[in-house]
Amino acid sequence: MPASEGREGIILVADDNEANRELVTALLSAEGYQVVCAANGQQALARVEGDSIDLALLDVVMPRPTGFEVCQAMKFKPETRLIPVILLTSLNSDADRIHGIMCGADDFLNKPVNKQELLARVHSLLRLKQFTDELDNAETVLFSLALTIEAKDPYTEGHCDRLSKYSVALGEKLGLPQDLRVALRRGGLIHDIGKLAVPEHILLKPGPLTPEERKIMEQHTVIGEGICAPLRSFRHVLAIIRHHHEKQDGSGYPDGLKGAQVPLTARILQITDIYDALTTDRPYRKALPQEKAFAIMREEVKRGWWDGSILDEFEAVVHGYEPVHPAGSGS
Ligand SMILES: [Fe+2]
Repeated sequence: MPASEGREGIILVADDNEANRELVTALLSAEGYQVVCAANGQQALARVEGDSIDLALLDVVMPRPTGFEVCQAMKFKPETRLIPVILLTSLNSDADRIHGIMCGADDFLNKPVNKQELLARVHSLLRLKQFTDELDNAETVLFSLALTIEAKDPYTEGHCDRLSKYSVALGEKLGLPQDLRVALRRGGLIHDIGKLAVPEHILLKPGPLTPEERKIMEQHTVIGEGICAPLRSFRHVLAIIRHHHEKQDGSGYPDGLKGAQVPLTARILQITDIYDALTTDRPYRKALPQEKAFAIMREEVKRGWWDGSILDEFEAVVHGYEPVHPAGSGS
């Protein structure tokens, strides 16, 4: 394919050997891929941060940072971890492959490079990257939609973002695994997405809701779960969305779950949600000081609403934590 037709995908070729670099670049350019080059590991890192790279071909043996180290650094950073990495090596030893896998490499190629093998692997990993990007786009749309709900009410500005941060900090304190901490981050942003289906005159009603209006409002948990259910990457978030209004005594909604039946991630989000609501300004009152907010929440624990042990852990987090927002920190 002539280069002018342009295949989708920008490929980084990092090799300190100029002849190798030019050879791989020529093979890829002849197929219509756009190639950017780096002559060492440092340049490679700058390229992946500055350019929209879709795939990185890294020579393993480069002056430090080596290809292994560049790969590891890329896979560590959230912004670059989804870029597929192929390690180019002439060493071909099991130890190097194992080291490469430990560094997060997606594939390997032996030098001298076999043209057909190179193109087959590049093609397959770029397809994978395309799927990841599409998924990423779907998530971005959901997060944007969730923010439109927040934008309707000036008093809740920044609420979801703070909730996300508090919940992840609490999840870390409780030793939750990475996938549940990711779910908490997402859940903080998106737990009320079902409110998209709640009419504004109910959503923004200043006074108390009628029983019929309350029924409609409560549907936001189930509707939100339905909106996010098709996304496989959101499977751990669904429990948060559905159950963030359950109460420990079973008087919550939508399922009237009790005690430990309420998923742990939902119990975490409830605590951070109420704390943030109490410590920020509302139309009917100013932000409460930190200690007053905790006193109210302890009363609610006694009433059978929230999980007291999680509230204790959250207090410890907040007391050792830089406040996310100055208003109502009370200190
Ligand atoms: Fe909610």
